[in-house]
Amino acid sequence: MANQSHYAKLPTAAVSRRGPQQCLSSYGNFSNFLDVFRLPMFSNPRIRKYCVKLVLICVLCTVLITSFCSEILNLRNPGIYLNRLVATSNKRNTRTYQLTTQFKLDLLKGDLTMLENSGNAHNESNKEERRLPSCIIFGVSKCGTRAVLEYLKLHPDIVAPNVEINYFNNKSLQARGLSWYLQQMPYSRPGQITAEKSPDYFQHHECAKMIYGCNRDTKLLLLLRDPVVRLVSQYMQLVDKRPTLPAFEDWVINNRTREINMDIPSVAVSVYSRHLSHWLKVFPRRQFHIIESESLKKSPLQEMTQVERFLHLRPFYSSEDFYFNSSRGFYCVRMRATGKTKCMGKSKGREHIAVKKEVVEQLYRFYQPYNKELNDLLNMKFSWS
Ligand SMILES: *[C@@H]1O[C@H](CO)[C@@H](O)[C@H](O)[C@H]1NC(C)=O
Ligand SMILES: *[C@@H]1O[C@H](CO)[C@@H](O)[C@H](O)[C@H]1NC(C)=O
Ligand SMILES: *[C@@H]1O[C@H](CO)[C@@H](O)[C@H](O)[C@H]1NC(C)=O
Ligand SMILES: *[C@@H]1O[C@H](CO)[C@@H](O)[C@H](O)[C@H]1NC(C)=O
Repeated sequence: MANQSHYAKLPTAAVSRRGPQQCLSSYGNFSNFLDVFRLPMFSNPRIRKYCVKLVLICVLCTVLITSFCSEILNLRNPGIYLNRLVATSNKRNTRTYQLTTQFKLDLLKGDLTMLENSGNAHNESNKEERRLPSCIIFGVSKCGTRAVLEYLKLHPDIVAPNVEINYFNNKSLQARGLSWYLQQMPYSRPGQITAEKSPDYFQHHECAKMIYGCNRDTKLLLLLRDPVVRLVSQYMQLVDKRPTLPAFEDWVINNRTREINMDIPSVAVSVYSRHLSHWLKVFPRRQFHIIESESLKKSPLQEMTQVERFLHLRPFYSSEDFYFNSSRGFYCVRMRATGKTKCMGKSKGREHIAVKKEVVEQLYRFYQPYNKELNDLLNMKFSWS
């Protein structure tokens, strides 16, 4: 209690009587925010200079912090980041952009396996590491893509995963990041080509830009087949999984209009020109190699020699790699190193169901204009067109 006397007596009554308005008015009239700068301290040019500097630094910091935060937000969804990267890839140098993205993604995801693998890069005698594919078999389903992959893998300079990755057509896989995709690739040495096969990329047009964003030099292998034969083959695969599927004729023809039903995805896939035109907008024609399925089936050596040339591989394939299995009716492969043989699974190369003649004719009439479009697009002629 005695301490209280040490405190100076504040003129509380006086302040409250004059009010805050009158207090401030001794420094001028503050009706406007900018009037702050009329305070006497701002009349000093040095203080004014420091204030300007302070404001500039604040603005700079805000810009930096905002852009950093937005980077972090983007990185939390690599799928979105990749897509945005692809959207800008036409304007920027894709390669440098790709490297930094890859680096950031892996940092953020704490993908230690990736770092472990990159340690291999320092082993000069054997630089085995996973590499993103530089060759993709991107279509078309039921055209012999599995066979081409098996034939490709015979070549000592080609490595490829055994399964379809289906990365670029699947958002939930893209959300796992490009590093996940990389992890699906087998190890390869420098000079070896990593290949991938996912024939469903073909009808998912967004894949083209994403693949371009990953590697604009990607070589693209495309297998094409008579569109009607392909459709029947796909129907047989579908009906194996779903026995309740209507008969082929009822499936492809719209009951109401009696027209071919374009809403059926498998029918639409065979409209090759419509899909390929999107890919040709992204990649130059010289990066595509087209293989006709029938020709691959009849003379695999000749077709694979052309693929070899297209990929700039050293000549390897010879007649000893392929042999005709007359009971199966197609070629099988023989591994040179082990002498082991390998034929496609039972589901491959089987007999097709009989389809009503009118429906077959209607289908050919339906695909005819698109086949013509395809010929013009590729400046090629196919056995079915
Ligand atoms: C490099 O690779 C070779 C061949 O696989 C291996 O024998 C060697 O131990 C490796 N060296 C190092 C430092 O990892
Ligand atoms: C995408 O990949 C996930 C994970 O493998 C799978 O469960 C899903 O069915 C795929 N989605 C499509 C549309 O294929
Ligand atoms: C179409 O019509 C036929 C007979 O007119 C019928 O048997 C078939 O189930 C119908 N298909 C569909 C998908 O409605
Ligand atoms: C040819 O195909 C038949 C039927 O699948 C199989 O049993 C046989 O082992 C094959 N022959 C060779 C030499 O691969």
